[in-house]
Amino acid sequence: MEPIAGFSKLSKKQKINWLVDTYLQGSEDAKEVLQQYWNKDAELQRLHDDFSENTLSNYYMPFGVAPNFLINDKLYAIPMAIEESSVVAAASKAAKFWLNRGGFHSQILGKKKLGHVHFIFYGDKEKIKQFFDARLINKFKDDTASITKNMEKRGGGILSIQLVDKTDQIEGYFQIEAKFDTVDSMGANFINSCLEQFSKTLENEMAASDLFSQEEKDSLQIVMSILSNYTPENMVRAEVKCPVSELGEEGIEAEEFAEKFMQAVRIAEVEPYRAATHNKGIMNGVDAVVIATGNDFRAVEAAAHTHASRGGSYGSLTHCEIKNGEFRFWIDLPIALGTVGGLTSLHPLVRFALDILGKPNAQELMGIVAVAGLAQNFAALRSLTTTGIQKGHMKMHLYNILNQLGATDKERDYFTIYFRDKTVSHHAVVTEFNRIRKKG
Ligand code: MEV
Repeated sequence: MEPIAGFSKLSKKQKINWLVDTYLQGSEDAKEVLQQYWNKDAELQRLHDDFSENTLSNYYMPFGVAPNFLINDKLYAIPMAIEESSVVAAASKAAKFWLNRGGFHSQILGKKKLGHVHFIFYGDKEKIKQFFDARLINKFKDDTASITKNMEKRGGGILSIQLVDKTDQIEGYFQIEAKFDTVDSMGANFINSCLEQFSKTLENEMAASDLFSQEEKDSLQIVMSILSNYTPENMVRAEVKCPVSELGEEGIEAEEFAEKFMQAVRIAEVEPYRAATHNKGIMNGVDAVVIATGNDFRAVEAAAHTHASRGGSYGSLTHCEIKNGEFRFWIDLPIALGTVGGLTSLHPLVRFALDILGKPNAQELMGIVAVAGLAQNFAALRSLTTTGIQKGHMKMHLYNILNQLGATDKERDYFTIYFRDKTVSHHAVVTEFNRIRKKG
């Protein structure tokens, strides 16, 4: 097998032919698999092709909705793009549970994003500090004026710029740390453009300054200029609360449930093995809404897990307390989202998702996403501490197996009843399937 040069320059058909010839013995069936997902509407297909490079086809994900979410007294149907069966069902269940208990509440705890120019300078520390305050800060602002103009018109821009001395960690390591308000955009391009300009300004200004010796000037090395995906000052809180006595439902004793639930959260707060799974469940809800609304779920994941380990050990993103007979359950999530720019106006399904949410601004969307995470965690812990999760999961598992077997609607109905009091396993489903098919 030979490496290929210029793959990206080939047409889509040529790329597919090369790939299938090289790895799949030219299988026409394999080409058909890719082609069956092409959109008939050529313009729509081109739009999707252009989102990325070397695009061969479209990758479908289920796009669903979890209704009945009461958030800050407003009723939402939350769009979710997720492949994992039972996530949307769990969200809907939690939404319904809290609908009659005051709903969810969200509040923004901060809306500052940040980024850094990481650089090395072996010269006099005091001189660079003085130069930074007396000369550079204003010059950074002047030199980025053309980049910040539009953002300032929308109410955002650069909030602060400071020099951070990191030489106790790495010899000669300094940062220009800047904070930004990017209003309703996620803001990555804006922040990175500003930072790259700061690094150029730093180089130019130091080269032209009389304050530094030639040796000091030569020691300056810009390592990189990039936003941070950890945004502890861009934070949202979502919470639910109600009297403990209102937590019970059929077959569940309210007080006992509240205590057990709180223990489950405490365990995730201190035990990283449990915290990983606990937070994974939260991200089931968070990512599904983030993807449906065209946002960057990798950035959101990075921020969430950094936050979860901020104390030096990895722990739960959610917290719970019972005080004076009241149950309170909440999440603080650092999360950078946009409702303008990026995919938000380009992808028709993303536009649809934002439309059904009533065209939220970035802060409102932060609240909705945090609520989806909290709801997911509530549903998971409620199942885990009462019936166990397999009960709910097994129905979806059963349907997935039946889909693989090509079951008819009538057979699906039969299996739903058949497995009502039995454990679903692949073997058990296939055996029963073969038995009833043989019987005719
Ligand atoms: C499964 O995707 C998520 C759960 O494992 C989360 C949890 O254990 O809290 C159910």
